[in-house]
Amino acid sequence: MIFEQIAVGGCQSYLLGCADTCAGALIDPEVSQIDRYLALASRDALRIRFVIDTHTHADHFSAARQLADRLGAMTVMHRASPAPGVDMRVDDGESLVLGKLRLQVLHTPGHTADSMCLVGEDRVFTGDTLLIGGTGRTDLPTGDPEALYDSLFGRLLKLDPALQVYPAHDYKGRSHSTLGEEIASNPRLQQRDKAAFVQMMKSLDLSMPTHLTEALRTNMSGGKTVAQMLAEAAACVPFMSMAELLSRVQATPAELIVLDVREREAYEAGHIPGARLLPRGQLELRVNSELPDPTARIVTCCEFGRISTLAAATLRSMGFQRAVALDGGMKSWLEAGYPMRAGPAA
Ligand SMILES: [Fe+2]
Repeated sequence: MIFEQIAVGGCQSYLLGCADTCAGALIDPEVSQIDRYLALASRDALRIRFVIDTHTHADHFSAARQLADRLGAMTVMHRASPAPGVDMRVDDGESLVLGKLRLQVLHTPGHTADSMCLVGEDRVFTGDTLLIGGTGRTDLPTGDPEALYDSLFGRLLKLDPALQVYPAHDYKGRSHSTLGEEIASNPRLQQRDKAAFVQMMKSLDLSMPTHLTEALRTNMSGGKTVAQMLAEAAACVPFMSMAELLSRVQATPAELIVLDVREREAYEAGHIPGARLLPRGQLELRVNSELPDPTARIVTCCEFGRISTLAAATLRSMGFQRAVALDGGMKSWLEAGYPMRAGPAA
């Protein structure tokens, strides 16, 4: 078996494949590592067939959809997954075939209703059902401590104790353990009475993961994160430094249009001399009257440099091929001691 473990910030994902046929799969890929997965798959000469999420993640951004599209692969999740665009839904007792390798699906609800473990050869990918020295939490959407107990004690822990455990998370840098080791020493598995186990899970009182709502929204819909929206916009517009813009507005004010895309109140409190006001929320509907010349050089600005990046990308997509974004925002402009004007637009 070709096997690679990718660990980033506590998230564990896996590349595996059949050495004889070069058929491969990715398990629980995370959005910040897309280039790494692509690079590893080509280094190992693997043709990725399946991109599998062991469950709906609430704490990281799944790269499954994007990778599957890039690789011509299928996304795979359990039948109970709420994500609408899953290519292949699988259920307990079924297997995915990767050349000579088989990945057997074990439905293990508890952490989420759609959690599954995947057994392949000498190892089991446990998702967040079983972690090294822990288990997944059961207090997030579709979590169920009673179901987790049944999945663990009724299913997973009855498998061969020699099976290696590869979880979806580890925050202490450990790569794997075995089912036998977990049965012997995992503190949560020492509660073998169901009622006591459920009581323990209900009293954990864990803090909510950061980006919970955004992770659920994007993972359940295949939609984009805010960071992705900004990165995509930044990748298709040029930027102009604050010093460069300052020298240009001072030298030949008519050479370019400084377009302030904040709200009126912020603009009137202080803006770049000569800047015009066109709030981002009105941009598309007012460009025809406000910016009749599509060849004009336009520099967008906002408070922090993010909304202006989106605005410049929108302008470019509408045909303003000289739209650029200010590299910085009015906050930095003010801090740099650059000139400001207050008051309404001229
Ligand atoms: Fe999870």
